[in-house]
Amino acid sequence: MVAGIVSGRLALVTGAGSGIGRAACQVLSREGATVIAADINYQSAIETIKKHTALASGANAVGDHCAFELDVSNTKSILDLFTKLQRQYKAPPTIIINSAGITRDNWLLKLSEDDFNSVHDVNLKGTFLIMQTFAKALTEASLSGSIVNISSIVGKYGNMGQTNYSASKAGVVGMTKTAAKELGKFNIRVNAILPGFIDTPMVKTVPEKVKEGMFKMIPLGRLGDPTEVAEVITFLSSDKSSYITGTTVEVTGGF
Ligand code: NAI
Repeated sequence: MVAGIVSGRLALVTGAGSGIGRAACQVLSREGATVIAADINYQSAIETIKKHTALASGANAVGDHCAFELDVSNTKSILDLFTKLQRQYKAPPTIIINSAGITRDNWLLKLSEDDFNSVHDVNLKGTFLIMQTFAKALTEASLSGSIVNISSIVGKYGNMGQTNYSASKAGVVGMTKTAAKELGKFNIRVNAILPGFIDTPMVKTVPEKVKEGMFKMIPLGRLGDPTEVAEVITFLSSDKSSYITGTTVEVTGGF
């Protein structure tokens, strides 16, 4: 087993097939955690396990990490995952990272109800369902744990074309703070990260001209790397942050 700040811990990462979720699997496994990569795109979750964890470098025992198909907006899918994990690992994950997220951008005046709802189903309801299911399991097993929700800096400041997305991410912050208050007595910590503009497939669709405008507003003058978010995720997951709960950490290059 790798010696690291989350050694011996079991970590569930949603949205693990891409971007920030994938980087979280990479850093958490580097720091000794056994990683459960869950994504609606099962093939991409498998690729994360095979190519982007400590397993890939042969550092962990083969078979520790695992990939699962999961739709965070669907209760049945979450309960299926929960049952499989109980069978495989005999105990719930004590690190839970909610990174699954989608955008359906449009101007407020043109945004459809479907696009409003689908973004909330994944970003907000998905985070709620995962937190509820796995926090309950932790309390029943008398285990402490750490939940890290990936919100967004646009949940704080807003962003043109993202009424639905920014509202869902602001909701994640409210939920994080409330969950931290309710779960503190079980020693389950809940924090949120507000990334700025991170170089993942999600921002690849942003036109170059718009990106240039963005750079001007970022004191560090560049997009963030997913690993730079994953390092903070791993810190908040670990006992290094044992007295931090109910807070938000901005990883924005100063935006
Ligand atoms: P990404 O698009 O690279 O990865 C998102 C992953 O979530 C994908 O693998 C996708 O298959 C998965 N996913 C989508 N719907 C799902 C569902 N219903 N159930 C399970 N998995 C699902 O995006 P990225 O950039 O890695 O984003 C990760 C999180 O960070 C998201 O919550 C996003 O809103 C947030 N974020 C991203 C920022 C950025 O600049 N990239 C900035 C701020 C926040």
